[in-house]
Amino acid sequence: MKRTIVRYQDSTRINHWFVALLFVFAGLSGLALFHPSMFFFSNLFGGGSWTRILHPYFGLLMVFGFVFLFLQVWRENIWTRNDTEWIRNSEKLLRGDEEHMPPVGKYNAGQKAVVWVFAVSLLVLLITGFMFWRPWFDGVFPIVLQRVAVLLHALAAFALVLSVIIHVYAAIWVKGSVRAMTRGTVTEGWARRHHPLWYKEMRGEK
Ligand code: HEM
Repeated sequence: MKRTIVRYQDSTRINHWFVALLFVFAGLSGLALFHPSMFFFSNLFGGGSWTRILHPYFGLLMVFGFVFLFLQVWRENIWTRNDTEWIRNSEKLLRGDEEHMPPVGKYNAGQKAVVWVFAVSLLVLLITGFMFWRPWFDGVFPIVLQRVAVLLHALAAFALVLSVIIHVYAAIWVKGSVRAMTRGTVTEGWARRHHPLWYKEMRGEK
C-alpha cells in the first residue's frame, strides 16, 4: 500500500465542501438573475421570486464559510520571492518539466494566486451585494452608487467563477490532488513531486 501524509483535517474538508456547494447555489441563482437566457436555472430554486430571495443568503453563507477556510490557509498562501520565481518559470511546468521548477512548499504560486482572487472577489461581492439588496437597504445608497455596485458585483462574480474553473481544472490535472480534499491524505510520491519543501517539513527535515 502507498504511504500517505495527512494534508487536511476533517473539519477543513467539511468547511471546503460547504463553501463549494454554496458556490454552486449562489452561482446558479446569480446566473438566473443575470440574463434571461439563463433564467431557467430559477426552476432549481422554486421560481423567479424565490431565486431573488434566496440568492443573497446563499452568497452570505458562502462568504461566511469561506472566512473560516481562509483563516486556516492564509498564512501558507503568503506570497514569497520564490513564488515570483515559480511564475517566471511556469512555462516549464506547462511543458511537463516540473523537475526544473523552483521547489514548492505547501502551495505553489498558482494555488496562492487563486486563493487571493477568491478572497478579493468574495469581499467585493459581499460589499456590493449589500448595496443593492433592496428589501433591507432600500434608499441607503444613492442610485448611481447602486448601479456601479451592480457592475462591480458582476465583474467580481466573473473573476470568482473563472478562478474556481482554474482551481477545479488544476485539482483534476495534478493527479492525486482531489483525494487531499476527499480523504484528507496524499501519497508521499505526490508530496515529493509537487510540494517537495512541504514534504521535507512533514518528515521533520530542514
Ligand atoms: C467542485 C469544486 C471544487 C473542487 C473539486 C475543489 C478541489 C480542491 C482540492 C483538491 C484542494 C486541495 C489542493 C491542495 O491541497 O493542493 C482544494 C483546496 C482549496 N479549495 Fe477547493 N475545490 C472546489 C471548490 C472550491 C471553492 C468554490 C472554493 C472557494 C471559493 C475553494 C477554495 C479552496 C481553498 C481556499 C483551498 C485551500 C488551498 C489553498 O489554500 O491554496 N474550493 N480544493
